[in-house]
Amino acid sequence: MFEPPEEKQEVIEAYDRRASGYDLAVKWFDVSARFGFNISGWRRQAVGQLNLKPGDTIVDIGCGTGLNFPMIYEAVGSQGTIIGVDLSEAMLAEARQMALANGWENVQLVCADATQFEFPPQVDAVISAFTLILVPGAERVIARAVESLVPGGRLVILDMAWPRWCPLWWRHVLFFLRSYGVTAEVLRRRSWEAVQQVLHERLSDLFERQYWFGFFYLAAGTVPEREIV
Ligand SMILES: C[S@@+](CC[C@H](N)C(=O)[O-])C[C@H]1O[C@@H](n2cnc3c(N)ncnc32)[C@H](O)[C@@H]1O
Repeated sequence: MFEPPEEKQEVIEAYDRRASGYDLAVKWFDVSARFGFNISGWRRQAVGQLNLKPGDTIVDIGCGTGLNFPMIYEAVGSQGTIIGVDLSEAMLAEARQMALANGWENVQLVCADATQFEFPPQVDAVISAFTLILVPGAERVIARAVESLVPGGRLVILDMAWPRWCPLWWRHVLFFLRSYGVTAEVLRRRSWEAVQQVLHERLSDLFERQYWFGFFYLAAGTVPEREIV
């Protein structure tokens, strides 16, 4: 799918602007966890679904400031490899800072569009959190991620969606979405449907869960033996 360059530029600018306050903004949402809007809890479940072991190599698509990294590092240890990919240099600078501050030498950060990123071969796991909704052609990113995974490798997606029962004008109520790149065009694209279809077609052992009235979902699966090329 063709992505208008101005749309990509808007995403880069939005996240470059938000990078330094991003972690704090996400932390604020923890206040709403008791009302079911539990981003940290969903993230924990998503990383848990990766079934990581010490020494694993994992790619985090749209890693942002690296909020998945602490849990991933805990699982893969210093022998593992964490590859974070993001469009925004400023978000990656925050992630780099986190890795430096913790002395993690096995974190590689790549500034790239997910649709153009060359996945390394033989990856053990791929995760993407709150990103693919922003990526036109996200289903092709997922298809390439599946090809890069070892048999038995896990793919986990945690993302936003827009339930069919909800009129699009409700996005004005959730006014903060726009400043994170979630525009009407993005919602009309309904890219999560194509992404979930790829998961159903290519993966086994599927785990699917919806959160917060269907505005968020977690989907995970395993690359079956037949995916060996
Ligand atoms: C809402 S943030 C999520 C960051 C992180 N995964 C998290 O869970 O906090 C979305 C991230 O996706 C990145 N992003 C958006 N479009 C992208 C694309 N086409 N390729 C790579 N990264 C992209 C943004 O720069 C931003 O850092």
